[in-house]
Amino acid sequence: MHTESVHSQSGTTTPGSRAPSIGEHAYFSVRDIHAYYGESYIVQGVSFEVAEQEIIALLGRNGAGKTSTLRTLARMDAPTLQHGEIYLQGQPLHGLKSYQAAQAGIQLVPEDRSIIPGLTVEENLTLAQIEKPLGWPLEQIYEHFPRLAERRKQEGITLSGGEQQMLAVARALARDIKLLLLDEPYEGLAPVIVQEIERILLEVKEIGITTIIVEQNAIAALKLASRAIILDMGQVVFDGTAREVLDNSQLREEYLAV
Ligand SMILES: Nc1ncnc2c1ncn2[C@@H]1O[C@H](COP(=O)(O)OP(=O)(O)O)[C@@H](O)[C@H]1O
Ligand SMILES: [Mg+2]
Repeated sequence: MHTESVHSQSGTTTPGSRAPSIGEHAYFSVRDIHAYYGESYIVQGVSFEVAEQEIIALLGRNGAGKTSTLRTLARMDAPTLQHGEIYLQGQPLHGLKSYQAAQAGIQLVPEDRSIIPGLTVEENLTLAQIEKPLGWPLEQIYEHFPRLAERRKQEGITLSGGEQQMLAVARALARDIKLLLLDEPYEGLAPVIVQEIERILLEVKEIGITTIIVEQNAIAALKLASRAIILDMGQVVFDGTAREVLDNSQLREEYLAV
């Protein structure tokens, strides 16, 4: 389970207020967040920490609250964060809007990948770079994603599922990013394409980016991740090493159905 902070927070959630100790010793820190869709109470007191350059798997059954948690971390308007704190390198994110969280270095790649219709691969990437701070230049993106280079003039939504996922990750890297949030990146992809995405995610780690990966394919996610957090009914029920989950079939049956 997560470690308790030495000091407790003074109670304010104003952005720019002094970061408490917890934000000073963890790279990314999520402190007791509670989030709602209207009246529906979904994220029910989630806390965890992520070290710099770590890959963390955020797992749990369908409806456990994984997507809602990622959306809360990316500071989307829904679900609404009602309580709790989020810090990236000590910077409070809980009072920010999603575009400000993006400027601070958080990029969410949603489950639907959100490729913009009517735009080519290159236009999708260029659009990510109309706002500073910028990440990789196009040439560097194409070096790491040769499939995208080949298809740069093709309309983004005509790509295969795997290529669209690559484009979505590439688009995140086109921004100056510190924390990558991936929602079910392997969904619907053939094993050989999953391997290609895995290779890309390891490269992303090598350049210093921290990743939280949500996956129904828990085994695949655990191969990549050093640590795992399991959610159930909007709460953290496990926080430990990926190895512990792989070795614990009871835990997997109870919360992951694998
Ligand atoms: N837009 C929404 N409005 C109301 N309830 C929602 C909304 N999106 C998701 N939920 C509910 O929140 C719970 C968690 O959903 P979600 O975060 O999508 O789970 P997961 O990604 O783990 O499958 C589910 O009970 C789901 O029905
Ligand atoms: Mg989901």
